[in-house]
Amino acid sequence: MANKLTRRTFLKRTFGSFLTVLGLGSGGYLYANRIEPTLLDIKQQQINHPLIPKSFDGMKIVQFSDTHLGFQYNLTQFKKLINKINKLQPDVILFTGDLMDEPNKYREMNQLVPLLEQLHAPLGKFCIFGNHDHGGYGSEIYRNIMETTNFTVLLNESTAIKRKDGGSIYLLGIDDAMLGKPDLPLALKNVPDNRFTILLSHAPDLADDAANYPIHWQISGHSHGGQVKIPFIGALVKPPFARNYPEGLYTIGVDNPLNLYVNRGIGTTRLPFRFMAVPELTIFTLNSD
Ligand SMILES: [Fe+2]
Repeated sequence: MANKLTRRTFLKRTFGSFLTVLGLGSGGYLYANRIEPTLLDIKQQQINHPLIPKSFDGMKIVQFSDTHLGFQYNLTQFKKLINKINKLQPDVILFTGDLMDEPNKYREMNQLVPLLEQLHAPLGKFCIFGNHDHGGYGSEIYRNIMETTNFTVLLNESTAIKRKDGGSIYLLGIDDAMLGKPDLPLALKNVPDNRFTILLSHAPDLADDAANYPIHWQISGHSHGGQVKIPFIGALVKPPFARNYPEGLYTIGVDNPLNLYVNRGIGTTRLPFRFMAVPELTIFTLNSD
């Protein structure tokens, strides 16, 4: 505990001095504490691949990530986000981990469940574990909430998304890299050859490993886009497994490249600030090329 407080105090001071250097002072503090965390950037990203069946053209996938409910982000904000996601009319909804900051201490489950239930996607709602979903023996708490609210939890496993014409793509989910046991071969076990595959991994840096497998796209969170960035320098803190790929789109490998998209997440953790890392919702649109 003492360790945690020391680290937190250190980070707060570092952040304070960085604002002073910029001459932003209390205005900058207020912006990073009160304003930027409440903003929302809706990003659009095309997913093109010849293995995507024609019947999937235009399919809309909405990803949200890292809400960290109970730290700075609250249910009133989450309710607005749920409404925004539903208004986008997604075919598929993905949640890429870190729902509650501390699942075993979270006291508003009864209000959280009906909100997650309201999320609507005709082709399914899917999720994976983040490090905070495992933290403090939270794994079963998280799994129960997600399954109760009709999310399919993908823990080193895959599922097919099918269209009426028989076309399908595969969605894979692996366990968190920090506190879980990610197993890519196990997740791929039931995936037939020559199918379009999307991997969900909370930790973006697992893409270096995923690039060695028949995986075409990876969708991640965890980094919070750095959460607090210093101009010209970058993130104040980069969590383990989000050091190589902090935000946005990457292509890894040459012959059969893996495309990686890293979403900046919604909430905050450790420090109640966001600076140059606006919360993000991502809309992916599939295209058969
Ligand atoms: Fe997170």
